Amino acid sequence: MNDVKQVIEEKITQLKKKIAESIEKVQSSDTLYQIKMKFLGRGGELSEFMKVMKDVPKEDKPTIGAVINALKTWAENEFSNLESTIKQLELKAQYKTEAIDVTMPGLTKPTGAYHPNTLVRRELISIFAGMGFTVFEGPEIENDYYNFTALNTPKDHPARDMQDTFYITEDLLLRTQTSAGQIRVMEKAQPPIKILSPGKVYRSDDDATHSPMFSQMEGLVVDKGITLCDLKGMLDEFARKIFGNGVKTRLRPSYFPFTEPSVEVDVSCFECGGKGCRLCKGTGWIEVLGAGMVNRHVLEGCGVDPDVYSGFAFGMGIERIAMLKYGINNMKLLFEGDTRFLKQFKG
Ligand code: DAH
Repeated sequence: MNDVKQVIEEKITQLKKKIAESIEKVQSSDTLYQIKMKFLGRGGELSEFMKVMKDVPKEDKPTIGAVINALKTWAENEFSNLESTIKQLELKAQYKTEAIDVTMPGLTKPTGAYHPNTLVRRELISIFAGMGFTVFEGPEIENDYYNFTALNTPKDHPARDMQDTFYITEDLLLRTQTSAGQIRVMEKAQPPIKILSPGKVYRSDDDATHSPMFSQMEGLVVDKGITLCDLKGMLDEFARKIFGNGVKTRLRPSYFPFTEPSVEVDVSCFECGGKGCRLCKGTGWIEVLGAGMVNRHVLEGCGVDPDVYSGFAFGMGIERIAMLKYGINNMKLLFEGDTRFLKQFKG
């Protein structure tokens, strides 16, 4: 009888040793769990061991039972102590790998910048919108009629030579000037008219200051009693807003078929204040746009009575304004898309 007790006590000691050895080897909470299940889980070694109780003589049951229970409690304690130690260690390791150096420079996301043309176009629209102008955009592929004939430039008119035109067919062309939009607007709307027409134009021309494609901003005002003084007043306001306070305008006689009289508009040099410098080539003035009073033939052709209404129009090159405003000396920079150039124009 005592033999059974002795054998069981021996086995208990061995099991305790086995558990202790296994626990020592545990490195992670995963293996800890596996080992815990191996001994304490359902069908684990300890519960299997409980089965030997049936072979234990009745008088030894209390003592053996108490020893087995003590082993179980001991094992549970060991496992739970180890569990918290391992969790602490694992957490420490995790903190270490996830640690960030808050003094490291951040990763910046590169952002784009608006093209100088876009900046100028938007600024012009905002200046003229403040004076009551609305925007009309005409087509880039135009009829000969809108681009020339209706603008008082019929076929064989010498003024057609002022612009080298890309023809698509006999009658279709890439518009050479946003002035074409004037006709489209006047055909549809009755005065008062106050529109601004930005867009791309095309001419067979290519050198340091000309490009086969460039952008223009057209303006047209038609109403009763519009005079050249209204044009001058509006231009003064425009010049101050785009080039700075103190900038003045001056009108010089010129020629455009669709305006009479026609003027070339200069602004006083914003670089030297009019004293004369490299920018204004010593003259104190910089040419910025063409303008004039809408030719009565043009009004008539659009069904607007020139004895009742009059108007002025103006047209400027957006690239030219951008070059002046930002001190860009080569027009090609505006077409190459080089980000080293473009990123300098951030808002
Ligand atoms: N269309 C002219 C050009 O491209 C510019 C121009 C001049 C427009 C006088 C106008 C104007 O509206 O009145 O050279």
